[in-house]
Amino acid sequence: MKKLWGGRFSKQPEEWVDEFGASISFDQQLASHDIKGSLAHAKMLFQCGIIEESAYENIKKGLLSLQQQEQEGELSYSVKYEDIHLNLEKLLTDNIGPDGGKLHTARSRNDQVATDFHLYVKEETLLIMDHIEELQKSLLNLADEHVETIIPGYTHLQRAQPVSFAHHLLAYFWMLDRDKERLQDSLKRTDIMPLGAGALAGTTFDINRNITMTELGFSGKYPNSLDAVSDRDFAIECCSNASMIMMHLSRFCEELILWSSEEFGFIEISDSFTTGSSMMPQKKNPDMAELIRGKSGRVFGSLVSLLTLMKGLPLAYNKDMQEDKEPVFDTVKTVKGCLSIMTGMMNEIKINVEKMNKAVHQDFSNATELADYLAKKGIPFREAHELVGQMVLHCIQKGCYLLEISIEEYKEWCPLVEKDLYDALSPKTAVERRNSEGGTGFDAVRQQIDSAKSKMYIS
Ligand code: ARG
Repeated sequence: MKKLWGGRFSKQPEEWVDEFGASISFDQQLASHDIKGSLAHAKMLFQCGIIEESAYENIKKGLLSLQQQEQEGELSYSVKYEDIHLNLEKLLTDNIGPDGGKLHTARSRNDQVATDFHLYVKEETLLIMDHIEELQKSLLNLADEHVETIIPGYTHLQRAQPVSFAHHLLAYFWMLDRDKERLQDSLKRTDIMPLGAGALAGTTFDINRNITMTELGFSGKYPNSLDAVSDRDFAIECCSNASMIMMHLSRFCEELILWSSEEFGFIEISDSFTTGSSMMPQKKNPDMAELIRGKSGRVFGSLVSLLTLMKGLPLAYNKDMQEDKEPVFDTVKTVKGCLSIMTGMMNEIKINVEKMNKAVHQDFSNATELADYLAKKGIPFREAHELVGQMVLHCIQKGCYLLEISIEEYKEWCPLVEKDLYDALSPKTAVERRNSEGGTGFDAVRQQIDSAKSKMYIS
């Protein structure tokens, strides 16, 4: 079988070599974008007087029919035609005859594949942003219900200071918001068109790139043909942004896994997102959360593989770049899947308010309150810190908590202490009062929810 580019070849590669070089098994995902790109290119060729009207109409009819068949999953491709671009060109030519061969005028597969890939990444970026918003909404709903639910806040995974559960959830809301902003920003560099760059140097045909740009809905064009065909920054950025999302989801999952353990018991993940054990009947494993945590690895891997792929490539196109697609396809599928699962999991999560409340009453996370209390009575904070440290040690030795020490004992230890100390030491007061901007105080958290909602256009 003669290749579409077979003119200067006297020998055919063997089948297994063809197979090695082919990308059709995965780049068929770009079919709809490729057809869209070809429709725009054909229109431009006609409008610029490069192909005659009859050829354009013929090509258009053929491409629209391919589009229809593609949507219905009726197209079949062959490794013999290497990739999606040559497969579609072959199908078109089989369908409409020699006019099909005019479509590739003033175009190379190099600017063609780059255009397809830009269209794909742009479309998927917007979809990932939608997925993020769904999760943000779910977090906001939950936060709304739990402003006054208190959990221990940790540093070094040691109890530090109690915080509002809503505050904790909102921390993830803002991480996701930055993720969304990064995706939005990356669109500036994704939403630009390489088409018209030819193989690397432009073309002698009198093309008009503004026509294809408008037709394809791009906001701009590459100003340099060499850069246009060899840039994959937008794909790397997509994987980098996805990596950041996965790192955030993975941290959240780690917390869900901890919180759903017997030791914490703060939450229960719905049966729909957990599994049992084949041997231990009592088990309810947080599999989906663990899988999300695990899948962050493959997304980080894709980022590193793309960076490594590109780092040694001279300008312009090199066949190495065919390896750019699978990591991106896999990343997009993974990150969308993880965001959906996460949203489903959050929508059905059960919060064990009692367990959380019990936890904040059985620790020393109110020690800072005691030190602040003494400081407000005029004792220098450093001294107060030292004093409270000794008191905590005393409690540990005695086997009790700060709220269980009698007023007499407190007065002996420091005469400035009055009965109002007990209110200051209650976890609720400790949280409620921290109303500095961005703090965990109930009013501050309510304000935070308001600004989160207004960012999401929710009232
Ligand atoms: N399948 C190729 C890829 O994905 C298309 C571009 C091929 N260009 C070329 N000059 N061999 O990169």
